[in-house]
Amino acid sequence: MDPLLDLTEEQRAIVETARAFADERLRPFAAAWDQDAHFEASLVPALGALGFLGMLLPPEHDGLGLDTRSYLLALEEIAVADASTAVLMSVHNSLPTQMLLRFGSAAQQARFLAPMARGELLGAFALSEPEAGSDAASLRCQARRDGDDWILDGAKSWVTSGSHAGVILAMARTDTADARRGAKGISAFIVTPDLPGFSVSKKEDKLGLRASPTVQLVFDGMRVPGDRLLGAEGQGFTYAMQSLEHGRLGIAAQAIGIARAAVEAAAAYVQERKQFGKAIGEFQAVQFKLADMATRITAARALVHAAAAAKDRGVDVGPQASMAKLFASETAMWVTTQAVQLFGGYGYVKEYPVERYFRDAKVTEIYEGTSEIQRLVIGRSVAP
Ligand code: CAA
Repeated sequence: MDPLLDLTEEQRAIVETARAFADERLRPFAAAWDQDAHFEASLVPALGALGFLGMLLPPEHDGLGLDTRSYLLALEEIAVADASTAVLMSVHNSLPTQMLLRFGSAAQQARFLAPMARGELLGAFALSEPEAGSDAASLRCQARRDGDDWILDGAKSWVTSGSHAGVILAMARTDTADARRGAKGISAFIVTPDLPGFSVSKKEDKLGLRASPTVQLVFDGMRVPGDRLLGAEGQGFTYAMQSLEHGRLGIAAQAIGIARAAVEAAAAYVQERKQFGKAIGEFQAVQFKLADMATRITAARALVHAAAAAKDRGVDVGPQASMAKLFASETAMWVTTQAVQLFGGYGYVKEYPVERYFRDAKVTEIYEGTSEIQRLVIGRSVAP
């Protein structure tokens, strides 16, 4: 365990619980799930039973009521074994549950949060569209009033867990008359797959995180009851951005987990692999590479945990969450690249797990805001 972390007894217990679950339920199967692009649906109730789908929710919603750091510790352990399960957990805990907790009415919270915490309802987040990725405020999905209801029309892309979600927080344009209102014309809706006009149109065939289903959703004249509007009309973009600040810390922890898996695999391999008459780990060039990998991971974790602790103290950490996500995801990509190199040809084939870590790492530089968007957010805070 990282000695810089200064964990409480409770946090140590959370790490142990997460590690035991990962060793039993994830690690033995992760390679096959990746190969087959298989989503193991039984993990959702299993994670719910552990409390891992309500880590940040208060006990009145059947949550564990933990702080952000405890949640990130569990997430890192899960990501070491299976990054696909980690993204399910990160999106669910950071985005839909946080949006409902912070902006939902008492009735909305009472209906959705406890089943989400128990793993009976998996959560998803639908912001991006085919033509609106980094420029999220340009989204075109429309929501128009029809009596007490709303009618939603449009497509949502890159929705993690979208094919298996029981509740999806979806952003749509309620000011349909004036698209120039950009972010100000966007509202958030609580969508469930039973709504008429809802469909899952396409499952992506991805480079990595293949055991996590990423889908496109189509809302075709989808009738949404009026009580499914989240918070105030026109505030959906701000709600989504605030939740993404939390989400980016989760993705940072996931990236650290992937990087750790790679350095652990490499550390074991260099002791058994012999070339030029000795274990390659005895060469200083190899030791230096491992040293740099471990140093960057420790630095990334320190930044992520500092940002999380400040967030829990009520500090506005938007730029710091972006720094944490940027640094951790670029660390994961760099560390997994070094691990493939240390394995040589064996790093390039599926006999060993490092090629999977390398593929899984890449998306951490892309989703929940690309590295370029994180730099944009950070840059604006440096020179507003
Ligand atoms: N907190 C609160 N409010 C915020 C905010 C934040 N962090 N960021 C922006 N806002 C508010 C602004 O204050 C502004 O409101 P006002 O006009 O009232 O002041 C409004 O939102 C618009 O903000 P900007 O002018 O900054 O908007 P922009 O269009 O210039 O840039 C952006 C915004 C940072 C580029 C944003 O579009 C962004 O983060 N893009 C990346 C999108 C992203 O991360 N997508 C991930 C999708 S989820 C996913 O990956 C799938 C998954 O399931 C894992």
